[in-house]
Amino acid sequence: MGARIIMGIESSCDETGVGLVRLHDDGTVELLADAVASSVDQHARFGGVVPEVASRAHLEAMVPTTERAFADAGLKMSDVDAIAVTAGPGLAGALLVGVAAAKAYSVALDVPLYGVNHLAGHIAVDTLQHGPLPKPCLALLVSGGHTQLLRVDDVASTIVELGSTVDDAAGEAYDKVARVLGLPYPGGPPIDKAAKAGNPAAIAFPRGMTGPRDAKFDFSFSGLKTAVARWVEGAERRGEEIPVDDVAASFQEAVADVLTAKAVRAAKEAGIGTLVISGGVAANSRLSSLARERCDKAGIELRVPRPRLCTDNGAMIAALGAHVVAAGAKPSSLDFAANPALPV
Ligand code: KG4
Ligand code: ZN
Repeated sequence: MGARIIMGIESSCDETGVGLVRLHDDGTVELLADAVASSVDQHARFGGVVPEVASRAHLEAMVPTTERAFADAGLKMSDVDAIAVTAGPGLAGALLVGVAAAKAYSVALDVPLYGVNHLAGHIAVDTLQHGPLPKPCLALLVSGGHTQLLRVDDVASTIVELGSTVDDAAGEAYDKVARVLGLPYPGGPPIDKAAKAGNPAAIAFPRGMTGPRDAKFDFSFSGLKTAVARWVEGAERRGEEIPVDDVAASFQEAVADVLTAKAVRAAKEAGIGTLVISGGVAANSRLSSLARERCDKAGIELRVPRPRLCTDNGAMIAALGAHVVAAGAKPSSLDFAANPALPV
């Protein structure tokens, strides 16, 4: 059949992404371009993503980002064989922009269109760096919007949720704790940096959902976030200087501990030999080092895509689209609607 070019469009949150990949006949997927425009700076002063601002930014960035992707790959739009777009989950108005663009390109280029799941894209992206995923594998998806433990039987078709957060996402907890500590948004990178100079054992913050009666693979971070806020308030009331590095390190340790403990336990119980960690929080240095330590001990292969692939981008949607095309799936009809609450 010959290699096929798949274009992927992502617009579920604050990143406008257009990716291009080549699907080879043997099923391997090669990254050709990964153009991303972020509106994160426009949200920084609000401490979180403002949906209306994100939608407008997508509208402005969609065409230039598309042009950049094709220029980077040295391809023409007429080279495209299929288009994949994030159908959900995500912000309704933001998703709409990507879906409308994808439909327009699909009609103009007369190529099939596939509405795909953003969460599955975060997993599929790993194949661009580490090759085909073993079936099954386990995925820990940790971002500003999601915290889920997933059994991936087939990334193109069958993903089963084993657990998820019952309140805040892990990244959201990072962002909120950063605000308490007076660090900038998004909070993950500055906390990661501060934690390097701190003592992770300085403060014993709670590990949510680890009691004997708690659901085995669910997570909770709002108690931890509140505990950090209370601790900081207490220190301020006593007129003490806040040991930002120690608080950051102790908070980060609590998050990494819970995430990796549950992921490794899930892998062991299900007899799964590979764990993929993806999403923006996968860039966290302590999460990956602790996961590495615990996976090595348990004999589990750990795969963490490079940070650029872990955060939202179009290449992850193109990669998933390639696996969906390779599986021979039926294209979406042109009137399909984005679904902000799309389950995996
Ligand atoms: O995947 P992503 O780019 O967007 C969403 O879909 O949410 O993830 C963004 C989240 C933010 O909450 C950010 O604080 C967090 O990922 N993050 C990190 C790090 N880098 C980004 N969290 C912890 N450590 C990091 N190094
Ligand atoms: Zn995401």
